[in-house]
Amino acid sequence: MKKFLCMVASALMVISLAACTSNKDELVMATNAEFPPYEYHDDETQKIVGIDVEICDAIANELGRKLVIEDMAFDSVLTSVQTGKADIGAAGLTITEDRLKNINFSTPYATAAQVIIVPEGSDITTPDDLVGKKIGVQLGTTGDIYAEDIEDATLERYNKGFEAIQALAQGKIDAVIIDNEPAKVFVSQNDGLYIIDEAFTYEEYAIAIAKDNDQLLNDVNAAIKKLKESGKLDEIVNKYISADN
Ligand code: ARG
Repeated sequence: MKKFLCMVASALMVISLAACTSNKDELVMATNAEFPPYEYHDDETQKIVGIDVEICDAIANELGRKLVIEDMAFDSVLTSVQTGKADIGAAGLTITEDRLKNINFSTPYATAAQVIIVPEGSDITTPDDLVGKKIGVQLGTTGDIYAEDIEDATLERYNKGFEAIQALAQGKIDAVIIDNEPAKVFVSQNDGLYIIDEAFTYEEYAIAIAKDNDQLLNDVNAAIKKLKESGKLDEIVNKYISADN
């Protein structure tokens, strides 16, 4: 009986260890690696790479911890940080008033925009032309949230940004609203699509941290400050985004 109880106790310990956030040697990053150039699977190695990965790796280094990446659906990223399954969320995450009610954000590390992709010959030339259209977005993103306000529009929500692009290329929808840098990557991979000049919204990206984790928030902010001042942040961004596009 004693042995049995012992086994139960150790099994419970293993389960609870697995359920709570990483030990202090690790920095667990929740992400959705469908978002080039911020996070995506490298074609050859299949490893998750990108701007967010390198920034968080540098932050982990500053904190003396090892970065561990957890890839998941985009709409799970914030909840996994809130529930403590991950320490940080880094997924080209836009700071919004609504999200700030449930989570903290670090100081911003990038500016971004939601842009509109259309097929050549489209009659959509400004955001106002989206009224009444069929619009593709990635589920749970700011593109999804803000597009809800477009009058008479039908929203098609996809799990991955590139699935929205595929639907657009196949003529199933009229436009896609998505972040500017992934938009450039997707358009470069698909003939016959382009980004209209006027952006839909302007935003800032930051790292998400649980509300009660002020220590980590301070540490991450200090690390970001260092990376900005040393030029390391620019170096990482320039590696993935060339100045001329
Ligand atoms: N910036 C947008 C947002 O925060 C989209 C981010 C999508 N990121 C991703 N890794 N799929 O809602």
